[in-house]
Amino acid sequence: MRTTVGIIGAGPAGLLLARLLHNAGIDSVVLESRDRAYVEQRQRAGILEQGTVDVLREAGVGARMDREGMPHDGIELRFDRRRHRVDFPALTGGKQVMVYAQTEVCKDLIAAQLADGGPLLFEAEALAVEGADTDAPRVRFRHEGREDVLDCAYVVGCDGFWGVARNAIPAPESATYERTYPFGWLGILADVAPSHDELVYARSDRGFALLSMRSPSVTRAYLQVPEGTDAADWSDDAIWDELDRRLAVDDPAWRLARGPITQKSVTPMRSYVHEPMRHGRLFLAGDAAHIVPPTGAKGLNLAVGDVVTFARALVAATEKGDAALLDAYSQTCLRRVWQAERFSYAMTTMLHRAPDATAFDDKIQLARLDRLTTSKAAEADLAEAYTGFPL
Ligand code: APR
Ligand code: PHB
Repeated sequence: MRTTVGIIGAGPAGLLLARLLHNAGIDSVVLESRDRAYVEQRQRAGILEQGTVDVLREAGVGARMDREGMPHDGIELRFDRRRHRVDFPALTGGKQVMVYAQTEVCKDLIAAQLADGGPLLFEAEALAVEGADTDAPRVRFRHEGREDVLDCAYVVGCDGFWGVARNAIPAPESATYERTYPFGWLGILADVAPSHDELVYARSDRGFALLSMRSPSVTRAYLQVPEGTDAADWSDDAIWDELDRRLAVDDPAWRLARGPITQKSVTPMRSYVHEPMRHGRLFLAGDAAHIVPPTGAKGLNLAVGDVVTFARALVAATEKGDAALLDAYSQTCLRRVWQAERFSYAMTTMLHRAPDATAFDDKIQLARLDRLTTSKAAEADLAEAYTGFPL
């Protein structure tokens, strides 16, 4: 098999890249190791930055998002039994975010690709990228019980943190930067209307809680839990009781609505960056190159930034014979990646209680939150980062 761009992985990065290239008249083949149902059901975050929303619309895959997604103008911060709203449009000159689940983004992209795009092969596992530093890189893969080779002009590794593409960048040329956190998130989906009309990020002495949503009738919520926690150890009542405690405020109007929990799972938290994001004709995009803890909801948005950068660069190289943007790919992406790493780290450390936190650490967290609620400059800094850095 032969194509211009071999794409490994059909997460949001690989799927959107295939769409952007198709729209630009560049052919690609997507290889995805899992089956379609798995990719369409995997629960991930659900906040799209303004720039991501614009990209999906321009790519022609924004119709259902515009019908079913929920535009949000702010978030609420809770701490010390107080509530404080951060007003995004007022602080950023009109920016919003969209609540629309990553799984739905993937479903829309898969439907578009299967309708009129290039090949998208499920249950096709990439085994290795070869010849990245030649003009003819290849992906060895296994599909329907047979080993095959995809000959490409470029390979883009969109195969997530556990993928194989990153391994093709020689170790002496690679640097990794990593931080793990001694806690994870227990996430739930529940059949009950969200208790608040915007997302609520809560810092409490018992740990972090986040109240989010998937639709007007489905609540998504998270609790900080110790590293290694088994979701099965948390009963539904225990989860609601703990959310109640961590979200508690001195406001008689506040009430947490409970409902049947339909899904529970624990996600670990880590910050990770691999540099560079390019080696010869192999490019990394999304989780294959970087991970952020979910506190700032940046994972999907970073993946979108990477593939938009790659698609623009390849179009410039193909149409104008100008390789400067391709050569700058890693540098261009990493600048934005590190801003998202900084923001996600800041949000995580401001809102979570580490197991070894001291009274001093608690006071600093509260002072950081107090600063956000009393300084428009500090608040605008959060709002700008949350709604997204320019592409
Ligand atoms: N061959 C083919 N496909 C592979 C291989 C392989 N060897 N290894 C992994 N994959 C597939 C995975 O099954 C997955 O579908 O690559 C895809 C990677 O998708 P994601 O993990 O969703 O990564 P990405 O597209 O970069 O999206 C980033 O995902 O983890 C979240 O928070 C993160 O929202 C962010 C988004
Ligand atoms: C989610 O709804 O899944 C979600 C929202 C905001 C975050 C992380 C996850 O910061």
